Amino acid sequence: MDHFLYNEGVLHAEDVSVAEIAAEVGTPFYLYSTATLLRHFTLFDEALGSMPHLVCYAMKAASNQAILRTLADAGAGMDVVSGGEYARAKAVGVPSERIVFSGVGKTHQEIHDALTGGLRQFNVESEPEMEAISEVASSLGMEAPVTIRVNPDVDARTHAKIATGKSENKFGIPISRAREVYAMAAALPGIRVIGIDVHIGSQLTDLAPFEAAYKKVADLTEMLRSEGHDIQRLDLGGGLGIPYTRSNEAPPLPTDYGALIERTVGHLGCEIEIEPGRLIAGNAGILVTRVIYVKSGEDRNFLILDAAMNDLIRPAMYEAHHDIIPIVEATPGAEPATYDVVGPVCESGDTFAKGRHMPEVAAGDLVAFRSAGAYGAVMSSEYNTRPLIPEVMVHGHQFAVIRARPTFDEIINRDTIPQWL
Ligand code: LLP
Repeated sequence: MDHFLYNEGVLHAEDVSVAEIAAEVGTPFYLYSTATLLRHFTLFDEALGSMPHLVCYAMKAASNQAILRTLADAGAGMDVVSGGEYARAKAVGVPSERIVFSGVGKTHQEIHDALTGGLRQFNVESEPEMEAISEVASSLGMEAPVTIRVNPDVDARTHAKIATGKSENKFGIPISRAREVYAMAAALPGIRVIGIDVHIGSQLTDLAPFEAAYKKVADLTEMLRSEGHDIQRLDLGGGLGIPYTRSNEAPPLPTDYGALIERTVGHLGCEIEIEPGRLIAGNAGILVTRVIYVKSGEDRNFLILDAAMNDLIRPAMYEAHHDIIPIVEATPGAEPATYDVVGPVCESGDTFAKGRHMPEVAAGDLVAFRSAGAYGAVMSSEYNTRPLIPEVMVHGHQFAVIRARPTFDEIINRDTIPQWL
């Protein structure tokens, strides 16, 4: 459920008219709903309620500081995957003991900065990375709390580019080698092994792969404990999918997911962490854009928008579907139109949808891509020297620009022309 609903024929974000925001901010822009973000966070938090736990928002999904502050104030931890994300989490005041550092290639500098700035744990993905953490921590006279990310060799049954839990993927260490890697880690100076980490992929719409992976983690916990390792914490990753179409079969709810966690690993008495990104931010954000032209082709009509693939790359990159709705509600019973929905960028990949049935719109009309809150703004670029689009947040009756649109000068002046030119 989200808070983007029509009110007297105009799409509203909570209590604010999207058309009014567009008039003030200009298009295109991303728009987030505070109530939806909080609702999704709370669903997870409550779903794990019976176990000691921390919901660490995977901030790669949407990392504007206003979003982070909203969630951190509600009690969320953060899952970060780079020095930049770590700095963002610190900048908004997330307590160090709520920051988990994931990612396959942490540099010495990132490890150093996180250790000196403070963190909850590193999720370690390889032996060389473990050695690097040991080296940096020892040189600082510190002990780094670590979990090891195991790759359970489970098929997440999601898009190939976002599946991470099969043995052919670059993530984690094979679960079959966990025993020796834990022994190796335990013998290293500057390392304190505290748990196990697993993440099998994103946009999972079925609980079975989670169940398979978590059962393997439960067995591994018992095995490692019998070898003397103090396994107190299980980081079970993110990945629960969201409905991208309203006609879609609904993916499992966080409550079902919580019950599954309880059933598979609850008996171990571990502290549970999860790292959801998409389910918290995805349906809490839309991309608002204006129709520039409706162009009649030979056998199709093109809807040319002022948003492009640089603003929302998911359709071009993953063949992702986003519902497109008009800001002014269609007249009930009106015949839908069929469009190829495209942006103005100079390549055919700049296509959001082909043959999309949707309400008829005209040049100048506003439309919105739904479910664009996760992996939208964060994956955007300035391709074609198109400014990164603003981000706006709504809270009840209020709205605020939380990242302004840069001017052309601001973009251009970032370049430096060398002295020989
Ligand atoms: N934890 C780890 C270690 C991850 O790699 C990810 C996502 C998450 C948590 C959060 O997963 P989520 O709950 O959001 O599914 N750009 C792609 C998605 C990439 C996901 C990468 N890892 C997309 O637009 O679909």
